[in-house]
Amino acid sequence: MKDENANGMQTNDAVENVDVSSATESYAEQNGNTTKKKRGSFTGKIGFVLAAAGSAVGLGNIWRFPYLAAKYGGGIFLLTYIVLAVTFGFVLMIAEIALGRKTGSSAINAFSKLNKKWAFLGVLCAIIPIIILPYYSVIGGWVGKYFTTYITGQGMAAANEGYFNSFISSPWQPLVFFAVFVTIAFLVVLFGVEKGVEKVSKILMPALVLLTIGVTIYTLTMPGTAEGIKYYLLPDFKKFSVKTVLAALGQLFYSMSLAMGIMITYGSYMKKQDKIESSVHQIEVFDTGIAILSGLMIIPAAYTFSGGNPETLGQGPGLMFVALPQVFATFGKVGGGILGALFFALVLFAALTSAISLMETVVSIVIDKFHLSRKKSSLIVYAGTLLLGIPSALGFGVLGKLSIKGMTILDMFDFLSNSVLMPIAALLTCIFIGYIIGCRQITEEIELNGRFKFKKFFNVMIKYICPICIVAILVTSILSAFGVFNI
Ligand code: PHE
Repeated sequence: MKDENANGMQTNDAVENVDVSSATESYAEQNGNTTKKKRGSFTGKIGFVLAAAGSAVGLGNIWRFPYLAAKYGGGIFLLTYIVLAVTFGFVLMIAEIALGRKTGSSAINAFSKLNKKWAFLGVLCAIIPIIILPYYSVIGGWVGKYFTTYITGQGMAAANEGYFNSFISSPWQPLVFFAVFVTIAFLVVLFGVEKGVEKVSKILMPALVLLTIGVTIYTLTMPGTAEGIKYYLLPDFKKFSVKTVLAALGQLFYSMSLAMGIMITYGSYMKKQDKIESSVHQIEVFDTGIAILSGLMIIPAAYTFSGGNPETLGQGPGLMFVALPQVFATFGKVGGGILGALFFALVLFAALTSAISLMETVVSIVIDKFHLSRKKSSLIVYAGTLLLGIPSALGFGVLGKLSIKGMTILDMFDFLSNSVLMPIAALLTCIFIGYIIGCRQITEEIELNGRFKFKKFFNVMIKYICPICIVAILVTSILSAFGVFNI
């Protein structure tokens, strides 16, 4: 079936996923069971930037970035991340968006459209969100739990030591909150009300940013945070290792929704007259800015409350859930309660919008591949997410024994997607562009409306630097995981 897209291109795609915010597509039932929709486009550059930033900003910025930065040495992680963001992040995001706009397709078809033999890369990109969605929803459930705690007036208890651990190790609580979170995302996707959600998110996301800035200013003025701020902002080069780079690279892909085909789909909705290069700069500044700010809100506070013991900063996924309730508690029962409820409500919302965009992606893959109706596909994805998420939800308690080298099941899924599959997908994308189709196909797309300022840089990065560095990082980290050497 051919659809005519906004740019007059032919696409073979069945339903295209995407956060449908400002896109103007319409759904139509065709052939009884296959849902098709006309490809629309964003209502201009701002619409595009906001929608892409909406997918990018989520738990990755608020929950994942601070705990990784704390774990991998503070300032040195921050510096590595920023360097990677303006090099790898910039190049890959621009490549994916241009690829999407050029082909007018989502990832699963974009690669094969340009070269039949490379269809497998579309499949690899499709597997990644399938792995991420279940454990992303488990963390979403944790946020839901904290929101409920605050809204029911028990915020002070959340600040107690052991509160977080007793919650995640409980045999049923993480499961219930996870299931509720997935169900909400599922209902939104099933009833196709993402547009409504997106409208609300245009108010709630800026509110989250403002609240984060407020809490950050407050924690930074608390006595004794100077050491923590230094830990977070000043790089200590002795702490640098290949693990720092791998962690920062994985975080970069995750946070910017790269190497999983999502930005390809977003690009396919972008209008030909909108500038890709400057849009990418804006999305990057937005996404990285919020991540850095979240680190500033959480790390110095965690440092202070742990009595200046950087060891406790390495506690992993729980960092945000342990540090912030302690900050809120300093406002007293009522003030802290209101602040906590507001904060976790907004984070919950940001997590939901990202989970919805992930689920929408997976649903569209199922529709594309198996030619099922939207309803059936959504149900399958819902059931699959629930099943796949159970081990991650229980991995801190009942299934705690299954952890390997201190990695829980959730950490393992996270590692598999972010530190293994995404670097591989990114590597293959570079090879595909640099050597199979040629950089020109991409740079010409970017040059459709104006000069591509970083063209030379782009070419050198895609052809040489990105692939060589990714291979080097992957090989060293695999060897060190097998204990061949320790770096
Ligand atoms: N980038 C999102 C975050 O930082 C995660 C995400 C990835 C969301 C892919 C949607 C799609 O939380």
